[in-house]
Amino acid sequence: MGDLFWNKVAGVLIGAVLAVMAITELGHLLVPSHGAHELTDENTSYPVDWAAIESGGGEAEPVEEGPTDYGLLLANADISNGERVARRCAACHTFEQGGANGVGPNLWGVVGADIATHAGFSYSSALEALEGEWTYEALNHFIESPASYAPGTAMSFRGLSDEAQRFDLIAYLHSLSDNPLPFPDPLPEESEMTEEVSDMAEQAGEAMGDMAEEAGEQAAEMAPEGEEAAPAEDDEAAAGEEPQEGGH
Ligand code: HEC
Repeated sequence: MGDLFWNKVAGVLIGAVLAVMAITELGHLLVPSHGAHELTDENTSYPVDWAAIESGGGEAEPVEEGPTDYGLLLANADISNGERVARRCAACHTFEQGGANGVGPNLWGVVGADIATHAGFSYSSALEALEGEWTYEALNHFIESPASYAPGTAMSFRGLSDEAQRFDLIAYLHSLSDNPLPFPDPLPEESEMTEEVSDMAEQAGEAMGDMAEEAGEQAAEMAPEGEEAAPAEDDEAAAGEEPQEGGH
């Protein structure tokens, strides 16, 4: 009897696990809760700007971009190209250590320096009003468009609209120091796709946990009665007998 009993226990366990797996699988097939919204905009791995594609990219609203990855852009920047780009600044700025102020202040060590503090240069009140240091971010925006970053600035330079050129230039400016700051770390790569995959993995893990638990419960339930237990055919007993509609 003992053997038979344990055979049955094993059978029920395996049966239960298979049944739960099949039901889960089937459920996902029938009710594609993930599938259904996988195709919406927020779930595509990058935003598609159909307007831009249709209009040839000209007049479209700017696409909401992700955060600028300073670490990545700087790590990939080309310093010697940055030095070349910096010739466009040389009419007004010197770059070497101890270099003279010209129309603009000397720029040695400007990355990380307090804004508008270079010795011997008299800044506009617009620049002096800016708080803080020349972070990569501040430099990026200032160089992109000095007049919009610091309205009223005395730096009459239209700006560099090309992001790659700006980052090459910033990497060059960064090198002008006895003790360059470390570049920031690149942003962790977490696209919505990877988020979704890890969600799914988590759910799968939970489902497995539930299955094991359920199987354990079934085994525990049938243990006292032993051999008579049949694989869970949940009480279909009370079929028939619909509740009577009240009234006459
Ligand atoms: C036409 C002259 C001119 C050109 C060209 C120019 N600048 Fe300037 N720059 C200035 C002046 C003037 C200031 C001071 C601004 C103020 O006081 O409002 C300045 C200030 C700055 C500052 C702030 C420095 C500090 O000490 O706070 C930075 C950074 C800077 N320029 C970078 C650049 C870079 C990079 C370029 C080239 C892409 C460039 N500039 C091109 C004239 C110029």
